[in-house]
Amino acid sequence: MLSLASLLYLFLFLPLVISDDARPHELTIHRDIHTRRCTIVRARRIPRHRRLSGEHHAFGFSRILFAGDRDRAVEQVTVSATNATTLQDHFSQICPDFDNTLAEVLPTTVTGASQQDAFTLSENGNEGLSQEGVIPLEVTEITVSGPSSNRVDVTFFSDGYCASERDKFISDVTRLVKEISANQTFHSVAPLLNFWAAFTPSEESGVGVGGVPKNTPFGLYRDGTELRGLYYAKPEVARDACNSLGDRCDYAVLVGNDPLYGGIGGEFVTVTPSTVNGALVLRHELGHSIIGVGEEYDGGFAYFGPNFAHDAQRLPWAHWLSTVPNGSSSPRTRRIERSIMPFQAYPWTILNATAPWRSVFHSSGTYTRHLVRFSLSGLPAAHQLSVRLDGKDLPWAPLPGIGIDRWHYDIHRSDALSNGQHEVVFKLLDAEQEGTAQLCSVEILEYGTEDEFDARPGVYGVFPTFSMDNKTTYRPTNEDCLMRLTVSPHFCSACAEALWLTLLEHIDLFEESGLDVYCSQLHTIIRTNLVPFSGEEQEHPYKIQWWFDGNILDDYTNHTELMLTGDAHGEVAVHVRLNIPEVQVDPEKLLSSERRVWLLGMCK
Ligand SMILES: *[C@@H]1O[C@H](CO)[C@@H](O)[C@H](O)[C@H]1NC(C)=O
Ligand SMILES: *[C@@H]1O[C@H](CO)[C@@H](O)[C@H](O)[C@H]1NC(C)=O
Ligand SMILES: *[C@@H]1O[C@H](CO)[C@@H](O)[C@H](O)[C@H]1NC(C)=O
Ligand SMILES: *[C@@H]1O[C@H](CO)[C@@H](O)[C@H](O)[C@H]1NC(C)=O
Ligand SMILES: *[C@@H]1O[C@H](CO)[C@@H](O)[C@H](O)[C@H]1NC(C)=O
Ligand SMILES: *[C@@H]1O[C@H](CO)[C@@H](O)[C@H](O)[C@H]1NC(C)=O
Repeated sequence: MLSLASLLYLFLFLPLVISDDARPHELTIHRDIHTRRCTIVRARRIPRHRRLSGEHHAFGFSRILFAGDRDRAVEQVTVSATNATTLQDHFSQICPDFDNTLAEVLPTTVTGASQQDAFTLSENGNEGLSQEGVIPLEVTEITVSGPSSNRVDVTFFSDGYCASERDKFISDVTRLVKEISANQTFHSVAPLLNFWAAFTPSEESGVGVGGVPKNTPFGLYRDGTELRGLYYAKPEVARDACNSLGDRCDYAVLVGNDPLYGGIGGEFVTVTPSTVNGALVLRHELGHSIIGVGEEYDGGFAYFGPNFAHDAQRLPWAHWLSTVPNGSSSPRTRRIERSIMPFQAYPWTILNATAPWRSVFHSSGTYTRHLVRFSLSGLPAAHQLSVRLDGKDLPWAPLPGIGIDRWHYDIHRSDALSNGQHEVVFKLLDAEQEGTAQLCSVEILEYGTEDEFDARPGVYGVFPTFSMDNKTTYRPTNEDCLMRLTVSPHFCSACAEALWLTLLEHIDLFEESGLDVYCSQLHTIIRTNLVPFSGEEQEHPYKIQWWFDGNILDDYTNHTELMLTGDAHGEVAVHVRLNIPEVQVDPEKLLSSERRVWLLGMCK
């Protein structure tokens, strides 16, 4: 029941401020995947965690970041808890060897978030912010859908952009955000996301090479000169910068000012503004970070999450399985689509014109079709490289305009590989490209007939994925998901559903005050204040039901506003449910929310 004071509060339309004490704690730990030793990387108070409830006082979630590379991978565990004691208990189970108490690291007040209101917004929306020990950050809004206390916020930080390149940074980030959220990938969940750009000028332009960072805030560098990972030398600077923004930095992306492919996932996602690869890397790595899904491509080592199964009888995506192709509504039998990976390699090798890169592999000869999949960089023209399988030239053509950036090529062949030994050869024909031309990855997959392997987009079944050790796990679709086919801009339904649910852990469908109550010409008007969704597809996404003193008000179903008499006296309850086709299963009711208000009959 609301007191008179809170009723007046509603009358005054003040936003409901979440008090620091009510905020759950959130602790992020990195646990070494071999020794299982823990390091605390972030401790903060978050606005809410909707999986914490009456019975659940702590919620822990583990994921492998940078799941393609065992040497650089890290297990990240995030634990949320209603109070510090519960957090300590949960933490000591996860990290028994950790010898400190959490008391020193847990914030008693909210960092950043409460200061947020104190920031002075200048005319153009930019803010100057400088805190002790934190690099200066000029924060610009890219797309903001609502208050950071009720959104998931992704902030891009600049690295290798000099003061004179500030506008380039803003336009690079604007383009990346547009590519991942304007019409695809994160488009449908964009009303739940905020994107910010935080600019810090660098002393030097660009990213480091040969393992040596430049003089930049986060020290982004490549290992050699080849286009591959983009690593950071100064994670502590990035941590402080992100923490200083409080609720405005749930995920940090470090943008290295280089036009070509590069990036990694991990505690921070790194990307470049490469016009062909920037968005591709960004959406894949954000998939790992935000949804906590593992890889789907072959040759990784960490497969986990809603897009992964060990056993065809236990599929997290069972409710997405396609019906049988004959048009009846029976779900497919859980047959395993017939394919195998006879060869795969990640050479990341610089090619030379003297000696071609070659490798042999064995086929069982029992499949009917095959695919040769490879990725290259430094090869702008087809005549510069020959790709041969058993002496036969495979026609490949560079993506138009790719220049020396990295790209992925698929050559589908409708004939069978014979039983026995085969050879694949990549020969650089143009010596001019030596030092630049690179073979990044090669894979050969064999498939059964169309009846044995249903490769059609939109088919949900049981598709085998082969790890770096050639162990088989299963994924939901052939190549519908960007966690497998990084050039695809879409998540499959299993990942998209998990994306909604994960974001809604932190978002209440009622915004701020939730319900606004006011008087109008002897009426009491109660209006819902809901997270807005706009756009053609989702114009009326909410199912809304009203109750007055326990009686359902059918006439008001789906109305966002309830009008009662001025002297109405009693309890109004409103229940909303987001109707999103992308979510089929929601056991914890994260798509539902409820509010109640007690009326004292004062609108007279
Ligand atoms: C922390 O939460 C647990 C579970 O709700 C509760 O039993 C305990 O009393 C709380 N401790 C403090 C110090 O509030
Ligand atoms: C989305 O926009 C990009 C350009 O920003 C375009 O290349 C792409 O084809 C569009 N995708 C869809 C699904 O409309
Ligand atoms: C469709 O296929 C399923 C399973 O293979 C079978 O049980 C069902 O009878 C078929 N329906 C029709 C209409 O052929
Ligand atoms: C993976 O294992 C399968 C079957 O065990 C085998 O046919 C295939 O050649 C192996 N592939 C590699 C790359 O080792
Ligand atoms: C040329 O490339 C081949 C295949 O990648 C490699 O084995 C060889 O060492 C390279 N030679 C030189 C001179 O770089
Ligand atoms: C209310 O909206 C929901 C979801 O948009 C819809 O499924 C339902 O049919 C609507 N009900 C009425 C009575 O309009």
